[in-house]
Amino acid sequence: MAAFAPFTGKVVLITGASDGIGAELALLLARQGARLALAARRVDLLQALAERIRRQHPAADVGVWRVDVSDEFDCRRLVATVVAQYGGLDVLVNNAGVSAHGYFEQVSDYSYYEQVMRVNYFGAMWCTREALPHLRERGGLMVAVSSLAGKIGVPGRTAYSASKFALAGFCEALRAELRGSGVDVCVVFPGVVATDTRVNGFGPDGRPLGESRLREEGAMSAQECARQMLAAMAARKRELVMTGKGRLGLWLKLLAPRLVENMALKALKQTGR
Ligand SMILES: NC(=O)c1ccc[n+]([C@@H]2O[C@H](COP(=O)([O-])OP(=O)(O)OC[C@H]3O[C@@H](n4cnc5c(N)ncnc54)[C@H](OP(=O)(O)O)[C@@H]3O)[C@@H](O)[C@H]2O)c1
Repeated sequence: MAAFAPFTGKVVLITGASDGIGAELALLLARQGARLALAARRVDLLQALAERIRRQHPAADVGVWRVDVSDEFDCRRLVATVVAQYGGLDVLVNNAGVSAHGYFEQVSDYSYYEQVMRVNYFGAMWCTREALPHLRERGGLMVAVSSLAGKIGVPGRTAYSASKFALAGFCEALRAELRGSGVDVCVVFPGVVATDTRVNGFGPDGRPLGESRLREEGAMSAQECARQMLAAMAARKRELVMTGKGRLGLWLKLLAPRLVENMALKALKQTGR
């Protein structure tokens, strides 16, 4: 077990734990002896992850829940059943998310804008609403995974940026409301992380894109992203903005917004689409 292990024995619910950053975070938390509730739609992947955790840590307390966070009832049922099974909740990690790419004027089916909002914003809001009374009981922590695209509007990502700004704004307001309650809110803003998120995300026709349209060279690994996230959670930080370049971008946005637009356009593989 890790030497500094603030999550030992803590009940941690992670949405979007079947793959990518959420799965890596689960593996790190398992090393600390956290009691894990892993949730997503692909139960086969969740079960494989739970088995891997049990192989590595035979005493691990890990359960698997199927949830579609775009459905309010599902979110409420998820939190309620996790709390019933574990007797409470210490940490909610709102990590489930879907990506979307396509220049706004080239989008042919706008219905996915609503779905992106439901997954990336409403899902987190619904889970948080259900979890808050339980987090209050334990002086718990709510974590949300936004994106640098939730701090800086990114070309080709109008649907995604809007949803991640919404999530960040919700968290900022909630954090202020919760002051003195013992519950902290930690928002994570990753840059480009090497996962399948862009491949699985929506394209301009509303179907899965099937490829990444970002330059992926130099992407952070999902393991490193999860490691930085865990450190921020342990320190109960308000925000974690990832990469020096990301933090520089935030300053530059105040001073020279056009320059930041140029940088964002450069990061796209294909401009003009
Ligand atoms: N990778 C990046 O560059 C990057 C950068 C900034 C922010 N982020 C954010 O980081 C988070 C994790 O993404 P990732 O990069 O690890 O991508 P990923 O590997 O595609 O993981 C996304 C996770 O979200 C789950 N998910 C998607 N739709 C869902 C739904 N309707 N209900 C329940 N779960 C759902 C997926 O599980 P199922 O498909 O099994 O449901 C999967 O476990 C997301 O919020 C993403 O927006 C990623």
